[in-house]
Amino acid sequence: MSTVPNLLAAACALALCAAAAAAPAPARSAPPSPSGDKPAAKVANCATQVEANDMMQFDVGSIAIPASCGTFRITLKHVGKLPVTAMGHDLVVARAADMAGIATDGMNAGAAANYLKPGDARVIAHTKLVGGGQSDTVGIPVARLKSGGPFVFFCSFPGHSVLMKGTISVG
Ligand code: CO
Repeated sequence: MSTVPNLLAAACALALCAAAAAAPAPARSAPPSPSGDKPAAKVANCATQVEANDMMQFDVGSIAIPASCGTFRITLKHVGKLPVTAMGHDLVVARAADMAGIATDGMNAGAAANYLKPGDARVIAHTKLVGGGQSDTVGIPVARLKSGGPFVFFCSFPGHSVLMKGTISVG
């Protein structure tokens, strides 16, 4: 008898083996998270850094502030390249219920006012409006966040708060 059929069988077995090895592995990543879900900010020494980019995104979705902090410092770092006039970002802290009103009044105040109504009492704290490569740090009096929430952070550049927003909690 010939060995050819055996060789073919062996070749086929190898091919099946290779095909099986090349098949996509079973999904083992975490289930899809809700759209817009972002990680929590890394907090240390009553401070954190939030990055903003040219894609109109913050890199974190929430900031948990230790209740023991008197002042909490947030550094906003614009890691993009676009100028402030095209893709400016700031980080505004306010009650969630005030976000839309602050953003609308900020848009109406215009670029000359850095898209915040001058003296807006609803604004608890805010950084400067920065462009690509720039950063700014703001200190937040944590006592202002211990009642009256929930609180948020967002960007007041026109239209940005749709995507550029997150929650702030104290605990
Ligand atoms: Co922005």
